[in-house]
Amino acid sequence: MTDFSELIDRRHTNSVKWDVKDNELPMWVADMDFRTLPAITAAIQERAKSGIFGYEEVPQKYFDAVQGWYASEHNWRPDTDWMIFSTGVVPTISSSVRRLTNVGDNVLIQAPVYNIFYNSILNNGRHVLSSDLVLDDQETYHIDWDDLEAKMAEPLTTLMILCNPHNPVGMIWSAETLARIGELAAKHHVVVLSDEIHGDITAPDKGYTPFASVNKTNEQNSVTAVSPSKTFNVAALHAATVIVPNAVLHAIVERGLNTDELAEPNSFAIPASIAAYTQGHQWVHDMRAYIESNKQTVAKFVAENVPGVKTVAGNATYLVWLDTREIDMASDKLEQFIRQETGLYLSEGTVYGGDGQEFLRMNVACPKERLMDGLNRLKQGILAVK
Ligand SMILES: Cc1ncc(COP(=O)(O)O)c(C=O)c1O
Repeated sequence: MTDFSELIDRRHTNSVKWDVKDNELPMWVADMDFRTLPAITAAIQERAKSGIFGYEEVPQKYFDAVQGWYASEHNWRPDTDWMIFSTGVVPTISSSVRRLTNVGDNVLIQAPVYNIFYNSILNNGRHVLSSDLVLDDQETYHIDWDDLEAKMAEPLTTLMILCNPHNPVGMIWSAETLARIGELAAKHHVVVLSDEIHGDITAPDKGYTPFASVNKTNEQNSVTAVSPSKTFNVAALHAATVIVPNAVLHAIVERGLNTDELAEPNSFAIPASIAAYTQGHQWVHDMRAYIESNKQTVAKFVAENVPGVKTVAGNATYLVWLDTREIDMASDKLEQFIRQETGLYLSEGTVYGGDGQEFLRMNVACPKERLMDGLNRLKQGILAVK
């Protein structure tokens, strides 16, 4: 069993997350405070030993490792010919937006959603069209199917970016839901780009379903992006895999990634990814159990100690979506208030769109001791508002 309780000091290490004041506790950007799988570090050290870091090709062994991981972890064996290496999920999304849509087209999303989707769409001169997720009184999000279909049917809607599982609300989409999205998308000629970067991080007894694995319709009308970056805390390695089964879509996306110079690995991306996908099974299962226990701690603590705040019960990601609708302050102001008052640095829900202006996002991928510090600061901050 891996020990995730070690408190590692990440201050002054050029970490985006930890580049904060000494009294501040960052629980915002999606980056874990755990050391990665030791086999990844060993693979990087081994590669570094040669002292030669020239241009590299992506070997078949890399694609075999990705295939093996998806077969054993997610019950899906994507053909290795469908795969393209890329230097990241976000670069892939931006490149695909440029290749699969035209300037002025609508790109469909489901807000509240990962804020960078907006950048990939808007920076390329496309429109954001959101079919907002709807929260019920059980704190569970749903798709408004009539709204989704109406927006897909708009003639200028050509691409949907699906977040599967969904950041920030933590939803795992069921196979039925994915089939229904796929059927509507095919009917209205909308390609689905499924961002599955959080797919490995689910509650121990809950797997996620890859969009393209559901049926032939989904398989042939999709671009799937996966990466070890969230799973193994290796974001700065810049490694992702794009899986495009349909030959025409594959050629278009591959040309885009090549033209945008996104398809060549750095010296460590390949050995680290192979180590992750071939030796990381147990580590990931241990990590999922630790995250689940942290999430339960948050749910209990918030219910018992933080008046006016509720947790949304998502089964995926290491991010907890905190419902602050009972508190009379927009989330950007509330986030700033809590940060100034207590040093706790959360993500303001506003940036995710939809109903996000009444939510905060808390990253719980940290040792329990640090989590408790964060929860006590949250309590202190919320009590100070009231
Ligand atoms: C849904 C989602 N997609 C993509 C990314 C980032 O991907 P990459 O670092 O590979 O560009 C994140 C990071 O938080 C994310 O939450």
